[in-house]
Amino acid sequence: MAILDKVFTAQGSPNIAFIKYWGKRDEKLILPYNSSVSLTLSAGVLRTKTSMVFSKRLKEDALFIDGQRMAMDDKEIRERLWILEKMRKMAGSGAKVLIVSRNDFPAASGLASSASGIATLVYAANSALGLQLSPKELSIIARQGSGSACRSMFGGLVVWRRGSKRDGSDSYAEQAFDERHWPELIDIIAVTSQKRKKVSSRAGMRQTVETNPLYKSRPAAAEARLRKTIRAYGKRDFGALAEQIMADSNEMHALMLSTRPSIRYLNPASFEIMDAVEALNLGKGRNVAAYTFDAGPNAQIITLRKHQKEVLSALAALRKEGKIIEIKISGAGSGPMRLEGESLIDEERLIPK
Ligand code: PMV
Repeated sequence: MAILDKVFTAQGSPNIAFIKYWGKRDEKLILPYNSSVSLTLSAGVLRTKTSMVFSKRLKEDALFIDGQRMAMDDKEIRERLWILEKMRKMAGSGAKVLIVSRNDFPAASGLASSASGIATLVYAANSALGLQLSPKELSIIARQGSGSACRSMFGGLVVWRRGSKRDGSDSYAEQAFDERHWPELIDIIAVTSQKRKKVSSRAGMRQTVETNPLYKSRPAAAEARLRKTIRAYGKRDFGALAEQIMADSNEMHALMLSTRPSIRYLNPASFEIMDAVEALNLGKGRNVAAYTFDAGPNAQIITLRKHQKEVLSALAALRKEGKIIEIKISGAGSGPMRLEGESLIDEERLIPK
């Protein structure tokens, strides 16, 4: 049963994929061709906060993201939010909902705001609707809003198993190692653009699967790399991990480039960052940092705390020239949680605060 007129607030954070998901075998249920693995980032650095309230006093559903009211009939919103409808049905509730969500990082610029947003929303809805679903069940629901969101349902290193069943019941995320496994490991996020991406990942990956003959070799290559990645992370073998991370990012972006029409998310500054990281590794004679890019031009550079200074100095010139606009540094995060006593909603008037 939905718990009416009570605001529920949760926080969640994005994840950065080490082995990427790019391509669906089922568009509606969001079932991927290959498994993927990511690190959930710290909510202390990149956070989505979401408050929601179900109430008979509301005449219609309303969603505010970063202060802006979203059109509920917008295609993208509908594609993502049908899962809320599903959850409401599971709870047997007809009450309308007000959702207020805030990201403290640029939305839709490859910093995985949809993953963080959907995971947090599903997590909060589970409490607000009194559903008491398990994290695994929640990851299955989040997956259907945005694939990568299922991985943000857990902290630490998270695997999204591709599964093979047609109904998607075996395609869910699970934690491989918790956030305490490798405290030395950090993610240096170098923002090179705050613009919204031109091609959504949903449209982009569909285009790749449909038009790119090179895609055929992708699923098996990704699965093999995923096993090596998990092994390297388990042994805290940074050199081996870095190799897999960079190879997979490069393979995904090469697939995007060779899609018709060609999709290019990286910008000149992204390539300069790749050069800087490779030069640093070459100078050291081993991998001390690894770059990776999701569907956007912002770099995420995985490294160890002891190399943070060196990485930052390798990026200093780009920072000075304004090619890197902002830098954020995150360790592994713990996954979504309730924020008791916090609210982004004015409970009396049922409007955003
Ligand atoms: O789930 P989406 O639609 O946000 O797609 C995410 C795809 C990548 O970020 C590029 C890769 C990944 O696995 O996160």
